[in-house]
Amino acid sequence: MKIREIAIDLLATAPLSWVLTALGRSRLAAGALNQASHPRGVFRSFDEAWRVAKRFGYAGHDHPDYFRNQIRFTTGLRASDYAVLYWLSQLARESLKVLDFGGNIGNIYYSYSDYLRRCAAETEWVVFDLPAAIDHGRRLAAERGERKLRFTYSLADLDGEYIILVSSAFHYWEKSVGEFIAQFAGPPQHILVNRIPVQERESSFFTVQHRKTYAHPCRVWNSTELIANFADAGYDLVDRWSAPELRIRMPLFPTYTVEAYSGFYFRRRSLANTAAISPDRGVA
Ligand SMILES: C[S@@+](CC[C@H](N)C(=O)[O-])C[C@H]1O[C@@H](n2cnc3c(N)ncnc32)[C@H](O)[C@@H]1O
Repeated sequence: MKIREIAIDLLATAPLSWVLTALGRSRLAAGALNQASHPRGVFRSFDEAWRVAKRFGYAGHDHPDYFRNQIRFTTGLRASDYAVLYWLSQLARESLKVLDFGGNIGNIYYSYSDYLRRCAAETEWVVFDLPAAIDHGRRLAAERGERKLRFTYSLADLDGEYIILVSSAFHYWEKSVGEFIAQFAGPPQHILVNRIPVQERESSFFTVQHRKTYAHPCRVWNSTELIANFADAGYDLVDRWSAPELRIRMPLFPTYTVEAYSGFYFRRRSLANTAAISPDRGVA
């Protein structure tokens, strides 16, 4: 562990955490804390967080190491995947149509495929992502002889009603919730947002996630704001769960730490046939 990280951990110990919280409220001191924890800080916009990510080194979602990391997730389920599979099994009819938004190389499809057979006789799974990810995904599928998994560069190419799955990707969406929904051919009925960092103590903010060779910004939503934004766009919260496999540690900004990511199922309001779970009840 580097000296800087040890110093940060010492500063972040309980007796000092209230001092850090107070300092974080002052703009000047927050700037200094951002410098000290570079590139992971608290920023006011995606633009600001992109600038910081670029100072760190390679900034983007298309570094070769990023795709290599995703291969690890082509097998096995992580804790929050069970909630997604539960809802897919409930929503499936004779067939299941899933649009895997931000699906990268298709890793979720590979890791879910044995379970999807139990949900429906037929599954149509389409991955949409940034072009470099689609290129990698297509190459991997060809190498593996995987014929069922489809990839698309354009949402306009898709016909019909898909369940939208956004797994570990909604925090990279830079526009509004309304613009997210407007990019589909028609408003989707069901949106499963899994593995998203949300927190309750602070307003939504932006930070930078990084590994050794690359970095990229993300938005950490305040959960109430996220749910209200979906409500404004015409979606009710049906379910919410914890995704304990991921967290964001913010040692110098204790109230911004995300101890566990979350998952949400949003349903278009016109389908108001069963009562939604109240956001106040938290996890269903
Ligand atoms: C961590 S990966 C998620 C992979 C997979 N869905 C999972 O849960 O393991 C995040 C993905 O979001 C994609 N992404 C980021 N911004 C995007 C955007 N504006 N539109 C589509 N995909 C985006 C990235 O390219 C990346 O593949």
